[in-house]
Amino acid sequence: TKDGYAHYMLKEIHEQPTAVANTIADRLYNDKISKYFIDQATAAILEQVENIHIIACGTSFHAGMVARYWLEAITQIPTQVEIASEYRYRKPVVPKNTLFLTISQSGETADSLAALRFAKTAGYLSTFAVCNVANSSLDRETDVCFLTHAGPEIGVASTKALTTQLAVLALLTLKLAEIKNVDEAIRSNLAKQLRTLPGIINQSLLLNDQIKVIAEQIVRRDNALFLGRGVHYPVALEGALKLKEISYIHAEGYPAGELKHGPLALVDEKMPVIAVCPNDELLEKLESNIEEVRARGGELYVFVDHKSQHGLKDRVNHLIEMEASGTFTSPIVFNVPLQLLSYHVAVLRGTDVDQPRNLAKSVTVE
Ligand code: M6R
Repeated sequence: TKDGYAHYMLKEIHEQPTAVANTIADRLYNDKISKYFIDQATAAILEQVENIHIIACGTSFHAGMVARYWLEAITQIPTQVEIASEYRYRKPVVPKNTLFLTISQSGETADSLAALRFAKTAGYLSTFAVCNVANSSLDRETDVCFLTHAGPEIGVASTKALTTQLAVLALLTLKLAEIKNVDEAIRSNLAKQLRTLPGIINQSLLLNDQIKVIAEQIVRRDNALFLGRGVHYPVALEGALKLKEISYIHAEGYPAGELKHGPLALVDEKMPVIAVCPNDELLEKLESNIEEVRARGGELYVFVDHKSQHGLKDRVNHLIEMEASGTFTSPIVFNVPLQLLSYHVAVLRGTDVDQPRNLAKSVTVE
C-alpha cells in the first residue's frame, strides 16, 4: 500500500532514511566494517583484486559511476564502469585479478544478466553483485551478492534502490580501503559519515516545500540541464534521467566543465539549469561554470550546503541549502532533492508518476 502517500514514488523517497539504515545496520560497527558484511572467503577474494569492472543499466549504472570515483580515490584500485548493453556486445579485455561487479535493483535486467553470464566465461577473478531482490536471477547466478535492504520498490522511477545501492558500494569501498591499509583516521571518518547518513537524508526530505516552489517554475519548461562535477556528475545524470522519465521534460545531465564544449549554446532565459554544488574541492570550478550560465541569462537552481552557499547567494536566485553531509556521502544525499523535484514536476504535469508511459519496472527483454 501507499501508506497515505499519493504515489509509491513519494512513499519510497520518504522511506530512504530507514532503507539506508537497514542496509548499513550491522555491516558497520564502531566506525569499522563489521564481520557481518562479508565472510572470510569473500575477504580472501577482495585481497587479490587489482581491477574492477562495474556493469549496470539506468539508475544502477549511475550508482556504479559514483562508486568508481570512490574506489579510485580511496583505494586506488583501477575501476571501469560500463552500460550492460554496450559491454555485452563488445570484446572487453579482462586484465588478471579483475573483479566483475553488477548492480541491479531487480536482479532480472536482461542486459545485466547477459553481461554476468558472459563475465563467467571471461576469466574474471570473481563475480559480485549489488541487488535488492533476494533469489532473483542475479542473486542466484553471481558468486557473491550484497543485498540492499530497500524493501520492494514499486514506482518505476528508482529512488530508494539507488541510495541503498550507494550505501552498499560505500561499505565495499571501505572494506577495500581496510584491505589496502588506507590510513585508519581516514577510514573512520568515512565510516562516521555513513553512520550519520540516514539522519542527513531525513533532513533533506524537509526541503520538500521549497522544492515544490521550484517545481512550479520548471513545469512550464520543455528542457532542463543538470550540472555537477566529479563524484556529483553522476548525480546530475541521475537527476536528468528522473525528470525525463516521469515528467517527459527533455533533460540532460552534463559534467559542468563540458558546458563550453557545446551545451552552453542551449542556455537562454528559458533554460532551467539545475546544479549540484556541495562544498568540495571542485566548488570554485563549479562556481565559475555557474557564472557562465548566469551570464547567458539561464534560470539557475543551485543545490548547495551551508559552506558552499557563501560564494553563490548574491548571484543566484534559487539556492536550496542542504544539510552538510561530508564529501564521501554527499553524492548519496544530493540525489534526494532531485528525486523530489522530478516528482513534483511530474505531479504538476499530471503524468502517471508510478507508471510512466513506455517503461517497465523490470526490463527483462533487451
Ligand atoms: O533493476 P535494475 O536496477 O537492473 O534496473 C535498471 C534500470 O532499468 C533502472 O534503473 C531504470 O533506469 C529506472 N527506471 C530509472 O529510474
